[in-house]
Amino acid sequence: MYGLRGSFGFWPPAGSSSEAISAEPLEAARLCGHELTRLKMMPAQRATHPEAPESALSRRLRDLRQIAAALKRSGMMPLQVCQSIIGDRLLDSGTRSFFSGLPEDEKHYWIASLYALLMPKARRRKLAAYFTPPHLAHYAIDTLIEAGIKPGQHRILDPASGGAAFLVPLAARISDQARQRGARGETILRAIESSLAGVEIEPGLATLSKALLFDLLRTEIDAAGRKPNISIQRADTLKLAPPDRLYDAVIGNPPYGRIFRPSKTILNAFAPVISDGYVNLYALFLEQAIRWVKPGGVICLIVPMSFVGGPYFTALRKRILETSHVLRLDPIDKRSDVFLDVLYDVCVLVLRKKGALARTVVPKSSLLMMGQSNRDLGTLEIPDHAAGHMWALPDEEQTEGLFLSGLETLADYGYIAKTGYFVWNREQHRYRTGNKPRPTEVPLFWAHNVKANRLCKPYDGKPDSTRIGFVRIERESSAIICSDAVILQRTSNRRQARRLIAAVVRKAKLPGGRGFVTENHTIVIIPDPTKSQKVTLKMLCRLLNSAAVDMRFRRISGSVSVSTKALRQLPLPAATTVRAAFKPGVEDDHAVETAYFESLTATARKSSATAASG
Ligand SMILES: C[S@@+](CC[C@H](N)C(=O)[O-])C[C@H]1O[C@@H](n2cnc3c(N)ncnc32)[C@H](O)[C@@H]1O
Repeated sequence: MYGLRGSFGFWPPAGSSSEAISAEPLEAARLCGHELTRLKMMPAQRATHPEAPESALSRRLRDLRQIAAALKRSGMMPLQVCQSIIGDRLLDSGTRSFFSGLPEDEKHYWIASLYALLMPKARRRKLAAYFTPPHLAHYAIDTLIEAGIKPGQHRILDPASGGAAFLVPLAARISDQARQRGARGETILRAIESSLAGVEIEPGLATLSKALLFDLLRTEIDAAGRKPNISIQRADTLKLAPPDRLYDAVIGNPPYGRIFRPSKTILNAFAPVISDGYVNLYALFLEQAIRWVKPGGVICLIVPMSFVGGPYFTALRKRILETSHVLRLDPIDKRSDVFLDVLYDVCVLVLRKKGALARTVVPKSSLLMMGQSNRDLGTLEIPDHAAGHMWALPDEEQTEGLFLSGLETLADYGYIAKTGYFVWNREQHRYRTGNKPRPTEVPLFWAHNVKANRLCKPYDGKPDSTRIGFVRIERESSAIICSDAVILQRTSNRRQARRLIAAVVRKAKLPGGRGFVTENHTIVIIPDPTKSQKVTLKMLCRLLNSAAVDMRFRRISGSVSVSTKALRQLPLPAATTVRAAFKPGVEDDHAVETAYFESLTATARKSSATAASG
């Protein structure tokens, strides 16, 4: 059993773009497998395995891919293959040796993963048919239990049940406990039938789920002389009406990915979780979960972190806080190399639907680590009103709150942040490279021109190019930036040490003298002409490149892309303290921490003086 403070190994379902459905679903499977069980069981201090975990897991995945490729050539249907493996009618020695000796839950996980690999790639991507590994599923089940849900007594639904990654371990827990109490097979089957349910859109997976459950329950089935009738509905969860009886809990790993052209029906039905027409599948599943659990019921979903601070998730954040208490938000460790190729961050989100008992809930957070003890991060900072504001994750090195009085924002400093104007895909006909601009052109800055704390130069993208990129643009266009500025990269990758990477542009150094534009993968910060600037651009740039600011930004940014909105809301030290802290000989990281400290202590001093005089 894996306690809430325990360690675990898992893979998050892989994604391609920051949110989109994965290009390589089973990349993520590298985090699972037999090897992980061994790692997990090791005490934290012995977690240095002679073989790096990802290599063993990658090998396992590579092996499964080879098996899948061979089986595809054989012309067997995915379900047929999986049923043969479950029934020990193994097909060849390679497949046999892959599955032999695996603990049951891992065997089931790899069977479901093989099914996914045997599906046509496009369909697999469309459905996000990438499955939760046993250790993560166990962790999620533990959070339900900690929230008071009793498997076997309470009714639990997985609304995207895939290969039964949650239903099988839930059934295992129910049967284990019942067996210990001496219950008969028939009693155990009835407890499972009456308390577990799934919905799955892919018919083969729904059938496979039942087959995996029957495999798990074969002793009970033999004893009872019948197969259980477990409800795994083949349906589109998003089109289903609320159930007649609401559930006590919803658990799952719903599909993620943006729906680019949502139907009117979707827009209307899920309006409470849609902001600016941006629809992500996981928000819709979260909404269904909120609707389908009882007041006081518990929801545990594995979802991307993007909703925590993402500009398109204002409605979702608001909806969550209006309807539910956040019990936990546990980010899944992203620093480990085994997360290679997984481009976004995911978390285990646990909610209790409001309405039963009024009680104060302090939302907790742990960093879920692979092969090590999970790290308690403390309390999640959630705005106490349901206006859709960003949430702030706790940070292991960060003990204080994030949105504190005494701190300022870019706007307070007298600056405006805008997303880069030029969209290459749409407007490449207006772009050319050269050394001098024509009268109708201005230089263009790309994200790759931005190097931390270096003067930004508008070179074209080719390696070592010293040719400048120019964009044709109307003389009076408001998109032209006619001042000095700071440019930031708008997307980072999860392996970059810093999420914020900023550089200064000096207009006077640019050819043409008409200003410049930046590409859409950048954010540009310019002086607000209606205000005076409290810090210089250079100081602002150094501030944004500091570890202290980066760490705070990460707490409100759940994804690798840097949102302009998040940047606007980012709490920065008071300008006076920044000016005082940047002294010759003082490292920027240290100076910025000092500035934060001074900002907060000055405010504390002021409020105690006010209290004393009052
Ligand atoms: C990321 S997988 C997770 C599956 C499983 N719960 C797990 O954690 O391993 C998402 C599952 O949702 C299913 N799915 C996708 N869209 C669905 C929909 N609209 N209704 C029901 N199931 C859906 C997919 O077929 C896939 O099996």
